[in-house]
Amino acid sequence: IGAAPMLFLLKRLVEEGIKVDFYLGALTENEVLLIDEIKYLAKVHVSTDDGSLGKKGRITDLLRENLKDVDIVYTCGPKPMIKEVVKIAFDKSISVQMSMEENMACGVGACLCCVCKVKTGERIEYKRVCVEGPVFDGENVVM
Ligand code: FES
Repeated sequence: IGAAPMLFLLKRLVEEGIKVDFYLGALTENEVLLIDEIKYLAKVHVSTDDGSLGKKGRITDLLRENLKDVDIVYTCGPKPMIKEVVKIAFDKSISVQMSMEENMACGVGACLCCVCKVKTGERIEYKRVCVEGPVFDGENVVM
C-alpha cells in the first residue's frame, strides 16, 4: 500500500531531474505493487519475505546494505518498517520524511482517531495525521 503515494512523489522528483532509488518490499511477489510503473522512473530494489521476487527477506535489510550517498529518505508503510527505516537512515546521518498510515474515521480533524505523537521542541504533542500530516519529519515522530 505504501508504494501508491510514493509513486506520485517519485514522478515529481524525476520531473525535477532527481535520481531516485526506490525500495519496494512485500510478503510475496503477488503483493509487489506498481513495479511496472516504478521501474521506468527509478532504480528499483525489491525484496519479498518468501523470496518469490527480488532478494529474500525484509526491505529494511536491503536498505541497510545499500543506503549511501543520498540526501533524504522518504518512507511509507507499516509502522515497524518505518521505525526501522528511520533508524537505518539516522545511523547514516540521513534525514527522513515519513508518510503515516493511520485509521481515519472523519478525515477532517474532528474525531482524533488518527493522532500520532510528535516532538515539538521539548514537548510531545499529538498531531492529527488526516489534517496535520500525513507527512512528518522522521526525527519528530515518536514511535
Ligand atoms: Fe478524524 Fe483524523 S480521522 S481526526
